[in-house]
Amino acid sequence: MKLKNFMEVEFLADSINESFARICVATFCLPLNPSIEEISDIKTAVSEAVTNAVVHAYPNGQGVVKLRVELDGSDVVISVSDNGVGIKNFNKAREPFYTTKPDQERSGMGFSVMETFMDNVGLFKNGEKGVKVVMRKTCRSAVLQEGTYAGRR
Ligand SMILES: Nc1ncnc2c1ncn2[C@@H]1O[C@H](COP(=O)(O)OP(=O)(O)OP(=O)(O)O)[C@@H](O)[C@H]1O
Ligand SMILES: [Mg+2]
Repeated sequence: MKLKNFMEVEFLADSINESFARICVATFCLPLNPSIEEISDIKTAVSEAVTNAVVHAYPNGQGVVKLRVELDGSDVVISVSDNGVGIKNFNKAREPFYTTKPDQERSGMGFSVMETFMDNVGLFKNGEKGVKVVMRKTCRSAVLQEGTYAGRR
């Protein structure tokens, strides 16, 4: 049977919620039976996307981060979106070492990390100005066990 599931959660754009987001995604992905490496890659990518919303989206106050995770067969699709100030130039933002916050010890490697650990990373406008990052990864270990997902009857 093909696994189909999704979840959505919203939380305050505060660094205290970065570990919550990571653990939330990792737990939700468990029915896919991912390898330790796959789950660690996914957690790293989620951390970068959520940290970006926390650090960059709302320079003038508080805001919300929306996290959506979809399981589609052996694929995990994760979207992290905000309603913040947005990104003027997507291509530039994705360049390695490009950062608008060099003073705050940012290295400009967030998007590069997401691209390294996920199979595909898309960057979109969310509503008027916000940012939406959509990341996809195929869990190869799940492919090997097609039809016999853990916990699925
Ligand atoms: N959600 C967002 N809202 C507004 N701007 C963003 C958002 N995400 C990224 N950016 C912009 O894109 C730039 C590049 O992001 P990236 O994650 O690659 O580097 P960084 O966050 O600056 O540094 P690092 O991730 O290495 O700490 C950021 O400096 C910021 O200007
Ligand atoms: Mg970053």
